[in-house]
Amino acid sequence: MIPTHYEFNNPVKIISGSKAVDNLPFELEQLGVSRPLIITDQGVAGAGLLSIVKNACSDSNISIGAVYDQTPPDSSLSTVKQIAGLYRKTQCDSFVAVGGGSAIDTAKGVNLIISENSDDLSQFAGAQIIKTPAKPLIVIPTTSGTGSEVTMVAVISDTDRNLKMAFTSHHLLPNVAILDPRMTLTLPASMTAATGMDALSHAMEAFISLQKNPISDAFCLSAIKLIGKTLPLAVKNGKDPDIRLTMANAATMAGIAFSNAMVGVVHGLGHAAGAVCHIPHGVAMSIFLPFGLEYNIAKEEKRIGRMLLSLAGESIYLNIPENKRAAGTVKAVRALQKTLYEHCGLPYTLKQAGATRDKLDQIAQKTMDDGALGFNPEAVELDDALMLLNRAYE
Ligand SMILES: NC(=O)c1ccc[n+]([C@@H]2O[C@H](COP(=O)([O-])OP(=O)(O)OC[C@H]3O[C@@H](n4cnc5c(N)ncnc54)[C@H](O)[C@@H]3O)[C@@H](O)[C@H]2O)c1
Ligand SMILES: [Fe+2]
Repeated sequence: MIPTHYEFNNPVKIISGSKAVDNLPFELEQLGVSRPLIITDQGVAGAGLLSIVKNACSDSNISIGAVYDQTPPDSSLSTVKQIAGLYRKTQCDSFVAVGGGSAIDTAKGVNLIISENSDDLSQFAGAQIIKTPAKPLIVIPTTSGTGSEVTMVAVISDTDRNLKMAFTSHHLLPNVAILDPRMTLTLPASMTAATGMDALSHAMEAFISLQKNPISDAFCLSAIKLIGKTLPLAVKNGKDPDIRLTMANAATMAGIAFSNAMVGVVHGLGHAAGAVCHIPHGVAMSIFLPFGLEYNIAKEEKRIGRMLLSLAGESIYLNIPENKRAAGTVKAVRALQKTLYEHCGLPYTLKQAGATRDKLDQIAQKTMDDGALGFNPEAVELDDALMLLNRAYE
């Protein structure tokens, strides 16, 4: 049934292809800018990926104003402030983010305080607080997971308060997302697995979210199908550019879906586990996804069952009776987890990921403050969060 009211917005221009990064100077010129600040991290720079971006800009009218390559995992309020100082000092006029969610969200955060002419990002936390259009931002993702290249979301840590803060605004949407397989060929198997499970959790949570709509549904199902087929291949054969480009497209589709439909309890738990125990986002998503789906079966049995067709294919779907398909989806996610664990050791319990039992209460408390719970089909109380954490522990 079509919802009585819904909104869908995705104005991000997507450029996908084997040498897509070479379009960067043209796209910057189209946006009327010529002096970008590049934001990246040491892992990405160390993998030699900056030279692809710099080479693309040689012989063009673009002069790179500065490069910041020290973005920490999950970024932080203080990093954002520091980079804003660099942007002002070097008189840049735009941003190019080269990296995974950490570098991309950092760029969004810096863009926000530059545009709002502020130094304090924390005052803009929450939904649709930002009023000023941002500077041009082009994103070149180097992981295939967060979808941040097409989302209106930035997640940035407040390291002092052990908190992951979410910022949601249409002004955070990048202008252009460039998907180039050269940028993910170097991603290690374990990171490929974790970030791929993040993308899968976006598509699956968005498909059952209270804010779902027919357009986000279409993106969800396409993403689930591509990830189900391609993620095991990407982990085993990371040097194949076609496989990498497929995963990049799948993560972008899942990002478009959840930027509109939002996510639920899996992300609520994952943000809290990330803040308290520093479990990488994708690892947390992989651990919580089957438990989160199970938790929602009473409210969304049909939809959870429908995802089996996309995830596991027609022959498996048709061989399972309708009333067992939702459980079949959970089983298929666990089978994928098992494949990833066997191939690259991706943890499937909190204990394997390094969490200790005495932290579960604190994670549960923090989960209750996460905005994602408001979009989860089943209501989540503190006891429920704790029950899910205990189930996911070992
Ligand atoms: N804004 C959103 O919509 C959104 C959605 C989901 C998650 N997030 C946030 O994104 C962050 C996680 O991002 P992520 O999972 O992409 O990881 P990441 O950006 O933290 O990167 C993880 C590691 O992989 C390395 N790396 C990245 N690309 C590489 C490559 N091609 N080759 C070699 N090494 C590479 C990095 O150097 C880093 O050490 C979290 O903070 C999470 O909360 C944001
Ligand atoms: Fe995520």
